Amino acid sequence: MKSQFADVFNHDEDAPGYDTDVLNESHPIRAGYDAVLDWVSDKSAWTYGMILDLGAGTGNLSSRLKNFKRLVCVDISHNMLNIARRKLADLNNVEYVKADLLAYFFDHPPVFDAIVSTYAIHHLTEDEKHILFEKIRQSLHPGGSAIFGDLMFADEAAKQHLIQKFQSEGHLDVIADFDDEFFWFVDKAIDALTKLGFTTETRQFSDLSWGIVARKL
Ligand SMILES: C[S@@+](CC[C@H](N)C(=O)[O-])C[C@H]1O[C@@H](n2cnc3c(N)ncnc32)[C@H](O)[C@@H]1O
Repeated sequence: MKSQFADVFNHDEDAPGYDTDVLNESHPIRAGYDAVLDWVSDKSAWTYGMILDLGAGTGNLSSRLKNFKRLVCVDISHNMLNIARRKLADLNNVEYVKADLLAYFFDHPPVFDAIVSTYAIHHLTEDEKHILFEKIRQSLHPGGSAIFGDLMFADEAAKQHLIQKFQSEGHLDVIADFDDEFFWFVDKAIDALTKLGFTTETRQFSDLSWGIVARKL
């Protein structure tokens, strides 16, 4: 099963400017980027095992992961992965897989100690996120964890509040992104992850950037 909009959100064309774009944290979509990546890498630092980076892009999160036996970077974008390959050239035991991040789990992947992902899963629909959570649960060792950093709303009321806020600030491009992409709802994600047996922890970094840890017992 491939996610519905994988080809739409393939970042091949954005690849050359991506690492410059993410430095602009004055934009609401980028605010908190650096702190989120640090937090996700810190939360995975307990393991010295197998780590999967979902939607690894140009390798900005992977470059902060130092303790692993093997790291698998999955992304649909050939150009983003090529930049990651260059940036991570001095890291050993890294595998690059060009694949849809949902389809990857239907292809008998190995089992991981930690699965990390930043700013990629908001390209999956709400239903696809829930299928992904189930696949992640199956692909984690007991005691393993999934650590996500992404664009999220606390709940529907928070989304409506942010629409008003960004309207009054003139950030109409951000509101357009709310319609074009699938920002997480923290309340729905926690509910789904809890039903799958994960224990969870959340942290908010900016209006739109959040982190979630899901630990498998
Ligand atoms: C906003 S970038 C985030 C990259 C990186 N994780 C970071 O934090 O900078 C989103 C990445 O997800 C990839 N992507 C989007 N949809 C995807 C999908 N369905 N399957 C695999 N990768 C996908 C894009 O190609 C892009 O590299």
